[in-house]
Amino acid sequence: MNKWHSPKIRSSEITPEAAYLNRRQFMQGAAVVTAGALLAACAPKADPTPIPTEAAALQGQTDELGGALTPYEAVTGYNNYYEFTTDKEGVAPMAKDFKTRPWTVEVSGLVGKPRTYDIDELMKRFPIEERIYRLRCVEAWSMVIPWRGFALNQLLKEVEPTGAAKYVHFVSILDPKQMPGQNSPFYTWPYSEGLRLDEAMHDLTLMSTGLYGKDLLPQNGAPLRVVVPWKYGFKSAKGIVKIELVAEQPRTLWSDAAPNEYGFYSNVNPDVSHPRWSQASERRIGESGRRPTLMFNGYADQVASLYTGMDLQANY
Ligand code: MTE
Repeated sequence: MNKWHSPKIRSSEITPEAAYLNRRQFMQGAAVVTAGALLAACAPKADPTPIPTEAAALQGQTDELGGALTPYEAVTGYNNYYEFTTDKEGVAPMAKDFKTRPWTVEVSGLVGKPRTYDIDELMKRFPIEERIYRLRCVEAWSMVIPWRGFALNQLLKEVEPTGAAKYVHFVSILDPKQMPGQNSPFYTWPYSEGLRLDEAMHDLTLMSTGLYGKDLLPQNGAPLRVVVPWKYGFKSAKGIVKIELVAEQPRTLWSDAAPNEYGFYSNVNPDVSHPRWSQASERRIGESGRRPTLMFNGYADQVASLYTGMDLQANY
């Protein structure tokens, strides 16, 4: 048994003190402290999700930089999903009965062949790959997660973006009955995020349907989320129901809430501090100490060319 089996892990034990304090400041800054505190106080604590045999079989694997996989219990028990609660350990128990069927995903906007997919059809449509990616949260913690999914570019090619399409807007589900956090007036629900079309077409950009060898659990964004490993984790929207190709840079939940803090690009960049904390280092969940944060989260070789000529201090 490892320490993640303890049902009594407090956030302060998982998160370094500094990041934990940062989270509190982060919430205050976003003017959500009242709603956030209320929601957090209501959240039941979870027993850790039992480890499936598929996950146990992956023990010992690492990312391409030698980073060990983050324990399953942390990946599925310590989550950001504001539609449920701002309490990271409260998400899993609150999301337990979230209905992920029936579910459709509309792919529309500036495309030649708009289409609405049933999720079960979509999950079988493209070859499913297993990819180990680092996820670096803007709150200065990170995980190494074995994802399952398919490259988004396959789906985008199928709907044939027109020449006018320049950005992709990801829209998460709006369902305040199932997601009590959506009753908070502080955010512009539904959650939404965006990428430039070339970022969305990049081979690293994954539509994830699973992790640790199994379909996604609700807390990780079931049945479908995007994963953009070189950007802060908030770009990786969960519970996606719509993917819209658009001409202009789309608005997002975080750019509405605090545009001076959460820029559209949000590339992981140790040289650009968040206005209220440094991004130079991070705590890898499950490890002690901190490690330096890498430019583009360690994916610079693959993605730096997307930003040639751009001032990444201005376009944070
Ligand atoms: N997607 C939605 N719809 N709602 C959210 O609150 N949080 C984001 C991102 N996607 C979020 C979301 C943030 S801040 C992070 S760090 C990652 O999800 C966390 O993903 P994980 O819980 O699977 O590790």
